[in-house]
Parts: sequence; C-alpha cells; structure tokens
Amino acid sequence: MQKLIINGGRRLRGELSLQGSKNSALPIMAASLLCRGECTLHNCPKLTDVYSAARILNCVGCRCNFSGNTAVIDSSVISETVISESLMREMRSSIIFMGAMLGSTGECSVSVPGGCELGPRPIDMHLAALRKMGVDIRDGGGRIVCRTQSGSARGARISLSFPSVGATENIILCAVTAEGETVINNAAREPEICDLCGFLRACGADISGDGESRIVVKGKKRLHGCEYRIMPDRIAGATYLSMTAATRGEIILTNACVAEMEPFLSVLEQTGCSIYTRDDRIYLRSGSRLKAVRDRIRTMPHPGFPTDAQAVLMAALITAEGTSVFEENIFNCRYRHTDALVKMGADIQVLGKAAIIKGVPSLSGAAVEATDLRGGAAMAAAALSAEGMSEISRISHIDRGYEKIEEAVRKLGGDIVRI
Ligand code: EPZ
Repeated sequence: MQKLIINGGRRLRGELSLQGSKNSALPIMAASLLCRGECTLHNCPKLTDVYSAARILNCVGCRCNFSGNTAVIDSSVISETVISESLMREMRSSIIFMGAMLGSTGECSVSVPGGCELGPRPIDMHLAALRKMGVDIRDGGGRIVCRTQSGSARGARISLSFPSVGATENIILCAVTAEGETVINNAAREPEICDLCGFLRACGADISGDGESRIVVKGKKRLHGCEYRIMPDRIAGATYLSMTAATRGEIILTNACVAEMEPFLSVLEQTGCSIYTRDDRIYLRSGSRLKAVRDRIRTMPHPGFPTDAQAVLMAALITAEGTSVFEENIFNCRYRHTDALVKMGADIQVLGKAAIIKGVPSLSGAAVEATDLRGGAAMAAAALSAEGMSEISRISHIDRGYEKIEEAVRKLGGDIVRI
C-alpha cells in the first residue's frame, strides 16, 4: 500500500497546468459506446477511475488506447452487454455505463454501485427514469438486468425529484438514440453535464438546454465518432488553490475553467486571498493568515458551492482566524475526513449536516488514513500547512481523482514523496 510523506510548513509557490476533469472524462468514455466508430479524447486525465472505465469498455468489446493525455476509443464492435460485478465495483460512477449500454445495444446487465464512502449511493432516480423510457428492468441480488422491447428506448418526459448528476447523465445517454423526444425537468446543471452534451453533439446527437434545468434530447438512429477535448477539472483546481491558500503561498493555475469555478472562487476570496482571473488562468496569493468565512458554506447542486470542494476548503480554514461553518446538503456521510484533521490539531465539531471549524493557530503533522477521494486530498492540504511530518496511507483513494498529486505539489515547491 503506497503512502504520501509530507513535510509541511512550506509556502506553495509556482505555476500549475490543471488536469482534465475526472467527472467529465468518465461519462464521455461511457458515451463513446454510442458511436460505433472511433473517438479521440484529448486532455484525458491519467487516473485509476479512468483506467477502470477503460476496463469496462474493453470488457464489452471496445478497444481503448492511451497515449499521454489522449485516449482513443474504438467502439465499432460491441460484443458483450454484461458488465461483471467486480468491474462495476471498481468505482461508484460505473452506473453511467447502464444508460450508455442501453443507448448503444438496447440491453445491459450491471451491478449496483458500492456505497459507504459518502454514504449509500442509491440509484432509484436512474431506474425510475429508464422505466419511464420503456426499459424493462429486473433488479435483485445486486444485479440489474435491463432490456428494451424494440431494441431502443422511447422518448419520455421525466421530472427528477433532485437534480442528480448521474441520473441526468444516464437519461441523456439512453435518450440520444431513443425513438422520439426526451425532456428532462430539474436536470443537473453541473459543467460536466454540458461537457458530456458537447461531446455527444460532436458525435451528431440532438441535445439542447444543457446547463439549465430543462434538457431536450431528440433521438437519433446512430451517432458517429469524433475528436473532443475534455474540460479542465474544476475540483482539482479548487484543491490546488485550497492547498496554496492553506500554506499562505501563491499560484498561477493555467488551463483552468474560470467561469465553472466561480461558485468556489466566490467563497475562497472571502478568506482574504487575492484572486485575479484572465482567460483560462487563475492567480491566487494569500500572504497572511486566512480569515474565517462569515456566512455558512452550504454545499448545493451547481451553480451552488460544490460538495466535492467542501473537504479541501475545510482544510484551508482549520488554521483561519475565526469560526467557519459548513453545511453538507448533498451526501449523508461526507465528513469522514474530519477525524484525521482533528488528529493534526484542528478544532472541528460535526453536528448532523453542519461542521463547525474553529480556527487554530497551527497544526502538527500526523499519520492519517485517507477515507475517500476528496477527504484524502484535504488531509494532504492540511499536512502541507502543518509543522512537521505527516504520513497519509490508503492513497489509492486520492489516485482515483488526482493525476500524480505528488508531482503537482512538488512543482509548487511542496515537500512530498510517494513511498
Ligand atoms: C456525481 O456523483 C459526482 N461523480 C460526484 O463527485 C459529485 O459529488 C456528485 O455528482 C454531486 O455533484 C461523478 O460525476 C463521477 P448525484 P453522483 O447523483 O452522480 C442522491 C467526486 O468526488 N441520489 O448528483 O453519484 C445521492 O445519494 C465525486 O468526484 C439518490 O438519492 O451524484 C446523493 O445524496 C463524489 N438517488 C445526491 O442524490 C439517485 O437515484 C447527489 O447524487 C441518485 C442520487
């Protein structure tokens, strides 16, 4: 089991090019199943979740080759519609292959995604929507067997009770080759949904309204391959900015997605950091101790404050002057990283959905264990600002979403090694 060894106390300084988005690459890789041709994806991040998605593509008959940050996927032949439980369990978001397989072949057999890291990961909204699109779904014993009567789903009007990102993606993936028109009300508005739709339009799909709450998809018989550039990872961007703020350093983040990061940036600048943006570059300087964020930081669906940035911003605020309060409204169990931060000397009180962060003057290095992807990144951020050495184990969580995190931090002058 690999670990990160971090000697904290150094101000991060330098320039960093932002990686491609994990949460955009995964649905776009699934969507390539719809093309029956070759898709070339640029700015594809080198992540374990991306390689898990490649294994799923291979298992159904696609060829998937990587060269640097370019992935070439050939989905001319789909020879299998059953995805094994072990493959499905490699990552939570494997469930989006359900919609893609249905859109591509009209049938699939998958497993329910695992839960526990952030709480249960129900898919009731996914299944209810697909049933409304005429998909016959038998689910029991952890397996889900889906079949369409005539080989493709039919368009439907779907209203989501919550703007679920995954459910929105699954509906779109099934609807692009369905018979007729599908309307999704209360759709997720995350930038990654827009990126998925941009990719599908490049493949010939007829989709409008993405980025808003009402998305309309007009079914097409077949899509073709394309060449596409995946958007930058706004959460990785929030992570490196939080690490820099935590260490009172300064950074120029390039190849960033400024508009999509606005909900995070607008909160970060309340800590007293100086933030300037131009084109795809973000400049941040935080020369002194951060100030606590006065207003409650509520995680909400986009364009609200992103739940995925909650842990890393918390890591920057634990040494701020004053008290900050988070309210986690998206997942039931997304404070598992707080114990490790308290072990480093943070003063955090979790009360249901709220986490109260009383700023302490300094932290001390400690040996901690990553609990999940963003929680692990938060521990690295806290370790970088702590005095002394920290050891973070179970970093396979972090590798799911950050491309060579130790190289990125070292590029900014951080003292970090992977052993
Ligand atoms: C996506 O997860 C992201 N993952 C998550 O990022 C992100 O935190 C989340 O959206 C919210 O923005 C990927 O894109 C791969 P949801 P997803 O469906 O699709 C409940 C990261 O760190 N729900 O919007 O699973 C669900 O339990 C990851 O990169 C149902 O109840 O999120 C959760 O409480 C973590 N029934 C809430 O909705 C359903 O059928 C939001 O889930 C579906 C969801």
